[in-house]
Amino acid sequence: MLYVRPYDEKDKNDFRHICLETASPTSKTEKQKKLLLTLYCDYYTEQEPQNCFALTDENDSAVGYILCSENYERYKDTFNKLYMPKLKKSGLLNFFHGKLDMLSHSMYKKEFPAHLHIDILPEYQRMGGGTALMTALKHHLKEKNIHSLLLAVDAKNIKGVSFYKKYGFSVYKNFIFNYIMTLNF
Ligand SMILES: CC(C)(COP(=O)(O)OP(=O)(O)OC[C@H]1O[C@@H](n2cnc3c(N)ncnc32)[C@H](O)[C@@H]1OP(=O)(O)O)[C@@H](O)C(=O)NCCC(=O)NCCS
Repeated sequence: MLYVRPYDEKDKNDFRHICLETASPTSKTEKQKKLLLTLYCDYYTEQEPQNCFALTDENDSAVGYILCSENYERYKDTFNKLYMPKLKKSGLLNFFHGKLDMLSHSMYKKEFPAHLHIDILPEYQRMGGGTALMTALKHHLKEKNIHSLLLAVDAKNIKGVSFYKKYGFSVYKNFIFNYIMTLNF
């Protein structure tokens, strides 16, 4: 049985583990790990913990997460100030990757100020957890009067794209090798 609950500080290491475990097998050097954790995990748990939810097992251990930034402008300012220097330190490639990732959000910030990342450990996938996490986030955002979401997904990620489409997202734009997918609710 899987459960959804708000993020707790005790989840931080589990979230970092999930972030690395669910990444492409080619992203395994120390530099690549730093990029993944900085860009796709630490900002959210450290700066917007109230917008993060955990998928947990019966021992209350996190086996998946959904992470969200509710406002692009605030995300951009904080990320540039606190996290971009870390990416720069870990190499120019990471720095440019970070900039490109921000650009993919900034182009659509007016219509879609909130964005998300979702990952579940392989052995807990296809059990309804992704759907439950998405619904928890959607309810949470609605209470804050936020009614749309954006995400970027590798166009070759069949599993991810199928999941988002099933949930009601549609492809809004193509951005290099990614689909920018959006949902209004
Ligand atoms: C994508 C992901 C979050 C989906 O979460 P999940 O808990 O596995 O999804 P659910 O069980 O809620 O599935 C809901 C629907 O999504 C679609 N779906 C989920 N996994 C799928 C798969 N492997 N292949 C095809 N469709 C899939 C199905 O339509 C499914 O409904 P169904 O089971 O009734 O057919 C999860 O598989 C995951 O973490 N994948 C690896 C990391 C990743 O790709 N993250 C997104 C990066 S942008």
